[in-house]
Amino acid sequence: MATLEQQFPRKRVLITGTSSGLGRALALEFAQRGWKIAVTDLDPLMIKQTAEAVRAAGGEPLEMVLDVTRVEHFEAAAKRVTEAWGGLDVLVNNAGVSDAGRMEGELTLENWRLLMDVNLWSVIYGCRTFIPVLKKAGRGHILNVASGAGLGCLPEMASYNATKAAVVAISATLKTELIVDHIDVTVSCPTAFRSNIANNERVDKCKSVAGRGIMEAIKKTTVSAESVAQYNIRSMESGKLYSLPQADARAMWRAARWMPEKYSKLLTYLYNKRLWLFAPGK
Ligand SMILES: NC(=O)c1ccc[n+]([C@@H]2O[C@H](COP(=O)([O-])OP(=O)(O)OC[C@H]3O[C@@H](n4cnc5c(N)ncnc54)[C@H](O)[C@@H]3O)[C@@H](O)[C@H]2O)c1
Repeated sequence: MATLEQQFPRKRVLITGTSSGLGRALALEFAQRGWKIAVTDLDPLMIKQTAEAVRAAGGEPLEMVLDVTRVEHFEAAAKRVTEAWGGLDVLVNNAGVSDAGRMEGELTLENWRLLMDVNLWSVIYGCRTFIPVLKKAGRGHILNVASGAGLGCLPEMASYNATKAAVVAISATLKTELIVDHIDVTVSCPTAFRSNIANNERVDKCKSVAGRGIMEAIKKTTVSAESVAQYNIRSMESGKLYSLPQADARAMWRAARWMPEKYSKLLTYLYNKRLWLFAPGK
């Protein structure tokens, strides 16, 4: 198994959403391995903080404001890394936001559009903009951060599940499509790990038992963003499509794929009885 550094000796990566959580953990992991890292997010001050941490950890940061809902920001980022580094080897589409609620209730059309923009269009923009850049480099790797939610489809999370399932589908499609161009694809599907995604007032206030249960699970979990980042990188190195860092993600994925009807019945039972994740506050 070749390390990422053996595969990509020029060590150039762009990561979206590096100010917090998994994006920041991935940036620091690449930094410890001596990579050049395009450190991108919304707020320049937060970007600077991650860039300083990247430098201290041994990486070479390139700071950039990149709002993932804006295709022109991706295009500007592609121009910038090409000018600064002559190209890119690894693209990480990580930035994401959460939401929860019932289809006919809290999930307003405005919220649907936001989730689609940040979680899904971002991946489409990122892949479309950077695949030609990776092709020019002769080889590349794309890590798309989806979620166990995209595999397990828990209730009261239709918009989040839909965006993440779409990211899984795009990743699986590109894995096959891009093999001739020596571009590999991995999709990260973690379940709960500690990050700021759980600090979502809208979900806290809404009536969704599933949404609040999942946010509680994220606040309580002992799984760190660092451990997910390390697992994702190992999956990339071994050429895996699916990177499922936690045992519950793997169990949910297998159950949903191998016994789809039984999985659906079990989920319905747990939800209706308010068991497992569906009992917030207990
Ligand atoms: N934390 C979990 O339990 C969990 C589980 C499964 C999947 N994920 C996924 O992991 C990824 C990272 O999330 P996290 O948990 O580290 O959350 P986080 O909130 O800690 O980090 C998300 C980052 O994305 C950035 N971001 C949000 N909107 C953006 C935009 N329009 N443009 C650019 N950056 C933007 C935020 O500023 C933040 O830095 C997301 O795609 C999320 O869906 C998280």
